[in-house]
Amino acid sequence: MSGYTDCVTRHIFCNNGAFLAYTEMISSEALVRNSSRTLSMLKRFDGEKILAVQLYGSKPEILGRAALIAAENGADLIDLNAGCPVRKVTQKGGGAALGRDVRKLGLAIRAMVKAGLPVTVKIRSGWDETEQNWREAVQAVVQEGASAIGFHPRTCRQGYGGKADWKALGELSAAAPVPVIGSGDLDSPSAVLKMLKKTSCSGVMIARGAIGYPEIFSRTCSLLNEGTPEIPPTPEDRLRSAKNHLLMAAETFGENSAARNMKKLLAAYVRGWPSASKLRNDLMKTTNLSAQLTLLDGFIQD
Ligand SMILES: Cc1cc2nc3c(=O)[nH]c(=O)nc-3n(C[C@H](O)[C@H](O)[C@H](O)COP(=O)(O)O)c2cc1C
Repeated sequence: MSGYTDCVTRHIFCNNGAFLAYTEMISSEALVRNSSRTLSMLKRFDGEKILAVQLYGSKPEILGRAALIAAENGADLIDLNAGCPVRKVTQKGGGAALGRDVRKLGLAIRAMVKAGLPVTVKIRSGWDETEQNWREAVQAVVQEGASAIGFHPRTCRQGYGGKADWKALGELSAAAPVPVIGSGDLDSPSAVLKMLKKTSCSGVMIARGAIGYPEIFSRTCSLLNEGTPEIPPTPEDRLRSAKNHLLMAAETFGENSAARNMKKLLAAYVRGWPSASKLRNDLMKTTNLSAQLTLLDGFIQD
């Protein structure tokens, strides 16, 4: 998830039981330009078993070169983003705009598999309600060697609104010759169980539901493996997790960068109880790490 799954967040997700966590989407153009900021997004966390790098772009040749650079920098798996609906990305032919151009999408996968790593692809159901081309897109990427498909069955036009079309996910899961990983509206362990039952997809990817609630992974594993119903996190659990995340970010990226970049994540952790909004507002006004820790500590019982 762009803006979220840096190496610290991925570490926390995997510690909580995620099988793997993809990097934020990384610009193939910037990677081939050797941008140091972009190269730093390939950083593996200590003990990361599968470094899964997601690339975006519009040019098959550049995507192929970027896949090679990712492989040379230690990636174990490459994912192609053919679903991002953000205008800045689609205007340049990337994300969902690439998913719309099935021929180019196939060429991109063909170029990327040459890097010698498994290549997965993330698609949406189509551009808009009248142009739902996921069947053609799947055929093209499978033919060119994609190893698995992440499917978010909303159109680009839908963005993140409305409901994901789990029926389409079920249809794809039944027909695709490669594993299908379902995405869309997985905001709780029980939603994951429901998706697996309803669609028979091979796996799931949890997105918004994990922001500020990394324990969703461990609680989902407990539900799936032992049938343990979800125990919702207490405010104390959330604050402890927020503090842990903040401290890990400070250690990895430095105090100033963590204090700045963690604000939106802190806001996501601090929600769901009556006095949360006051604490959230106070956190948003902070400018340094120690002020953030003081605020969190004020609510954590030792
Ligand atoms: C803030 C945000 C950032 C995202 N970034 C990415 C991304 O970089 N790559 C990607 O494939 N999907 C990205 N997504 C889409 C999610 O992976 C997922 O498909 C979508 O949110 C639907 O799942 P959900 O309803 O469980 O959130 C992002 C979604 C959000 C909300």
